This record gives sequence, structure tokens and C-alpha cells, in this order.
Amino acid sequence: MIQNDIQSLYSDNIRDMEVYIMFRIAKRVNELTPELTAKGRAPIKLSMGAPVFDPPQFLIDKLKEALSEKGINSYSTPKGEGFFAQAVATRMKNRFGVDIDANREVCSLIGSKEGLANIFRAMISYRANLDEQDVVMVPDPGYASYVDAIKICGGQPFPMKLSPENKYQPDFGDLLSEMKAQGITPKRIKGLILNYPSNPIGATAGLDYYQKAVDFCREHNILLISDLAYAEVYFPGEEPPHSVLEIPGAKDIAIEFHSLSKPYGTTGWRMGFAVGHPDAIVALERVKGTMDSGLFKPIQKAAAFAMNSPECHEFAMTQNKQYQINQTKMLQGLKSLGWPVEQVSPPKATFYLWMPIPPRYPSATDFCNDLMEISGVVAVPGTAFGQYGEGFFRMSLVDTPEKLEEVIQRMQMDGFTFH
Ligand SMILES: Cc1ncc(COP(=O)(O)O)c(C=O)c1O
Repeated sequence: MIQNDIQSLYSDNIRDMEVYIMFRIAKRVNELTPELTAKGRAPIKLSMGAPVFDPPQFLIDKLKEALSEKGINSYSTPKGEGFFAQAVATRMKNRFGVDIDANREVCSLIGSKEGLANIFRAMISYRANLDEQDVVMVPDPGYASYVDAIKICGGQPFPMKLSPENKYQPDFGDLLSEMKAQGITPKRIKGLILNYPSNPIGATAGLDYYQKAVDFCREHNILLISDLAYAEVYFPGEEPPHSVLEIPGAKDIAIEFHSLSKPYGTTGWRMGFAVGHPDAIVALERVKGTMDSGLFKPIQKAAAFAMNSPECHEFAMTQNKQYQINQTKMLQGLKSLGWPVEQVSPPKATFYLWMPIPPRYPSATDFCNDLMEISGVVAVPGTAFGQYGEGFFRMSLVDTPEKLEEVIQRMQMDGFTFH
């Protein structure tokens, strides 16, 4: 019998890669569900950043309507349909005051995760020698997908530490010195990712910080990759998050990724777009042209409607009010369990809460495992978001207030106090 060894055929870049953290957690939760349910601790998932509410009916109706249109079922193009690009340009103008050329500066995305992964593919050359590899600067803690998506292409992520000390806005000059000290020359740096409002911390940034990023990237010819997935997830009364493209000259060096997943409860619909420098858009289209044949046209119709619809905006703002209520509730609950919530400045955007683990735990993973296996409360260890996430855990406050109350009750009953 011939024994084949498929694993020996794996690329160097995926050989040691683990399954994406959220899917790993989901699998473990599935395994544990019967046992947890039997002991009255059916899983409450605070893990994935996926709202639990249904999309607004009028948006579902738009999609249904589009499905019956003649010719709608054929391939689109990776770039997207003309009406979609036009809707993006209108949105960028109305929401951010940014002029976008619908023909040259827009690309549709099958969710922004796809676009981010493909821009890395477009920019990173594979080099076996570690000292020659292309580098992308990534926020740490940051969205879990960046690091592996960069490594898949043979690139090297360089962590930009986000901490309360630097107000979650690292100094680019310091980072450059750090990289030079490690032998990384500016020529090797292909990209710099900004993600504000940020996952997992919920940190926000203003135009002054964006200006510094644009200046830095222009000086060193580094593609500025702005991930604006949470543009519409901010608390009532707060300044709506900005686009980096509002900075004059940003379009000379930047590409920005937008997602329509979170505000309308449509994470599975995979609606997103990229806007920015025409050459970066062309690079993305080249890669996408060989990888996918574009976004399903009815979804483009629904997305084009959603991004410029006052009803959809209202809907998103109503959810945001709920996230704020959820946050207040969770902070009160954690405080009653001894968490030092006064020392943490809670985010004013996103639905995430980033909290220290109880000091008796040796690691974030140990704490989250216990919390899941004992109480059925599913949170994400901070290390899933990078090395600087150790000592923290992330909760996604997307569930109902009743469920969040139950989380606190269970934690109290099961002894999950801070001290
Ligand atoms: C920071 C950030 N960027 C991008 C994404 C990807 O979103 P989507 O692919 O649904 O547009 C997410 C999803 O959680 C995220 O948190």
C-alpha cells in the first residue's frame, strides 16, 4: 500500500498555521455544548464579533427583490458593478466628504477580510530568507486575521504595540527606530495597518493621528492600509469615526477597507469595499481576478442600497444605543465582581470590551478556558490578538441584556471574581 503524505506538500507558510481562532473556539464550544447544557451552563457566546439581531426587513426585501431581476445571476467582476462603485463614491462623499472616482478608486469585496488578505497577496513577495522578507506593520493587539494573512504570503508582521501609555496610537518614528535596530530597512516595509475604531480594544483615533500616519507612509513609501470595519459602530453623541482619506494627500499612499457586516447584522452576506489609490485598487483587482469572480450581484444591490439609506443608518444607530447599554451593564457587573473598571477607560465605539484577567491566572488562555468550561461563558484570550494581548480577554457585547446579566450571575455563582 502506498502511504501518501499530503502534509509534506503543504506550503511552508501554512504548515504550522492553526485554524483561525474564532473557528477553533466555535469547534470547542460545539464539543462542550452537551456537557455544559446538562449542567445548566449552555454556552453564551461573547466570542465572535457578530451581532445576533436580524437585518432590517427592508434590507432583506431589497435583496429578495434583486434576486428576481433579469440577468442578475451571472458573474459580476471582481471590481464590482458600475452602480455599486457609484454608490460607494456617493457614500464616501456624504459620510466623509471624500471625493472618489468610481471608475478608478473603488473595488467591491466579498467582506473586508477578503480584501485585506488579498492586498497582502498583492504587495508581499515571497522570500525564503527571513532577513529579506517583506514587512507589514500591524496593530498589536489587533484583528486576529492580519498576522496569518500576511504570513500566508511569506511576509513578516511587525507588531505596533497599542497600550494605554501610548493612548493606543504608537509613534511611527519610534517604531522605525525599533525596526532599524532589528535590521529591518524602510525598503522592506510594504504596508502599515491602521484600525480605528479598533478590534479588540475599541480605541479610536482622530485626524491628527491619521495625518502623522499619512506623513510617515508618504515619506517612506509604505502603503497605508486603513481598516475601517467599525466606521458605523460608535456610541450615541460620539464623533463618527473618520476616514483616513479625509487627510489631504492620503489618496497618494492609502487604501481603505470598509465593511457592511456589523451595522446591519449582515456578517454572513459578505459585503465590503476598498477605496483609495488607483494603483492599489488595480493590484487588488489583479489578485481578485484570478481568485474570485466578484460579489454576487444581488448582494451588490443590497449593499448599494444599505450604504446610502437613511433607514439603514437609523437602524445601525439604534443598535449602537443598545451596545452602549450593554457596555454599562457589563461594566457594572464586572465591578460587582471586583474588576477594576474605574481604571479602564471603556471604549466609545465598537461592541467590544477588553479587560484584564484575574491576577491569579497565569495566562489569558487559562482564564478563558476555565470561564468556558466551568461557566459556559465564551470569551477570547487576549493573545489571540497578538503578543501584547497577554493578561487580557475580549468580550463581544452583541447579545441581549438578559444574556449579559446571566453571564454576570454565572460568574458570581462559579467564583469568577477578580481577586
Ligand atoms: C478589524 C476588523 N477588520 C475586518 C473584519 C472583517 O469583516 P468582514 O469581512 O465581515 O467585512 C473584522 C471582522 O470582525 C474586523 O474586526
